[in-house]
Amino acid sequence: NVLILDFGSQYTQLIARRVRELNIFCEIKPYNKPPEDLSSYKAVILSGSPFSVRAEDAPHPDLSEIRGKKPLLAVCYGAQYLAHFGGGNVAPSNTREYGRANLSYIKPDEAFFEGVSEGSQVWMSHSDTIQKLPENGVVLASTHDVKNAAYKIENESTYAIQFHPEVYHSKDGKKILENFLVNIAGLDQSWTPDAFVDLTVAELKEKIGDDKVVLGLSGGVDSTVAAVLLHKAIGKNLYCIFVNNGLLRKNEFQDVLDQYEHMGLNVKGVDASARFLDALAGESDPERKRKIIGNAFIEVFDDEAHLVKDVKWLAQGTIYPDVIESVSATGGPSATIKSHHNVGGLPDFMKLKVVEPLRMLFKDEVRRVGKSMAIGDERLGRHPFPGPGLAIRILGDITPEKVSILQEVDHIFIQGLRDWGLYDKVWQAGAMLLPVNSVGVMGDERTYEKCVALRAVESTDGMTADWVNLPYEFLQKTSNDIINKVPGVNRVVYDISSKPPATIEWE
Ligand code: XMP
Repeated sequence: NVLILDFGSQYTQLIARRVRELNIFCEIKPYNKPPEDLSSYKAVILSGSPFSVRAEDAPHPDLSEIRGKKPLLAVCYGAQYLAHFGGGNVAPSNTREYGRANLSYIKPDEAFFEGVSEGSQVWMSHSDTIQKLPENGVVLASTHDVKNAAYKIENESTYAIQFHPEVYHSKDGKKILENFLVNIAGLDQSWTPDAFVDLTVAELKEKIGDDKVVLGLSGGVDSTVAAVLLHKAIGKNLYCIFVNNGLLRKNEFQDVLDQYEHMGLNVKGVDASARFLDALAGESDPERKRKIIGNAFIEVFDDEAHLVKDVKWLAQGTIYPDVIESVSATGGPSATIKSHHNVGGLPDFMKLKVVEPLRMLFKDEVRRVGKSMAIGDERLGRHPFPGPGLAIRILGDITPEKVSILQEVDHIFIQGLRDWGLYDKVWQAGAMLLPVNSVGVMGDERTYEKCVALRAVESTDGMTADWVNLPYEFLQKTSNDIINKVPGVNRVVYDISSKPPATIEWE
């Protein structure tokens, strides 16, 4: 296991990804709240930081239990920190040190740079530079502008690099991380999805024993993978609840329910459509719509969970990006914890213990784990779909008629993407029902009907997104199909806004 101490760099999660890609397990902890027991960590990595080590309020970690005792790799801020407080000197740099650079010197015969040649491209992002190395420092690599681009401390397994090995543009970055973790720290590369499944199933068995667990399934990747893992561990003691809020895609409730049953899950489908739609009637404010849906979900889920006699645990599909305690942008000790509940917030009165088997995984790892448990692509490859469902794609108030119009439109669009081989090229797609009517003509008749907007985006995490350049022929055919087949719609537009400044959903 590898410990990554976070000093607030925007790249810290990338370090973790690269380490995991090497099939080595790692955890990120804020520098100001390191784990008390370090015995399970075989190596430590210090991240970069938005701070200058010369700033008074800069992170000042206590490394006395790490330095010289475990293999240590200090990246960027970490490298400057070791220099600044170790007898070296860090000063503002004269030239800009951002972006691409090439290693012009590499010390020969160093395990750290094994397989890396002079000329290798690295990515810099710093405004201070290490002018003098700390005591016992030895230069391992330089670039044209940065003499001390990498160094080690003599007689210690302590290595420091000014550039960022974790970013894609450092071409040999992953090799350097591998050299450090495998050749120098001696970690083995055994953290595979299969190994994760075996270990987690054993841990869940031990932790839960014969207790009963409830889990809210959403049809999405995370809750499905969490359910299958728990099912492997405790079988029929896992009670899955899948709520139809009346705002799902066309046929989604029955299709997903069938798939879950096929997987052998003990799942109860609860059709609460009327309850949600009644609660939403007449409401057109986006935030209030979300609140109403969130509250209705808690009520329905709570009612259902109470029907499971003697239930002790609530399982959730929370994943790692939701739980990483990140060092806030201001770097202060007021680390913010993002909390995330897939069930929309757990009511206190449920008083259940929480189990989250995926809380250490990134999204792509959840998919890999799902694949290793033979969950089909129709679940794992599914586009994200928001919890409030079609409610935030129907602008203005919601009626059953509008829901069914949008379900038809969405179905034609999504099925079209599949038929044209475009579904997997798009990160997320959907249709919005707009609160405007416009004039049209069908046959010799004037129409005055609804307008829908289609949206398809590419993204990696939903934080930023761009619209997808779908083929005109596809858009033409889809528009025709929608207007001809869905009564009440006479106009289709395509959303060409990026995020930011627009969001993916319209509400
Ligand atoms: P926005 O619209 O903020 O959406 O650009 C980013 C991503 O988040 C999804 N989304 C939600 N997911 N509950 C969810 O589970 C919500 O309330 C919610 N709102 C937005 C959205 O579909 C997109 O993938």
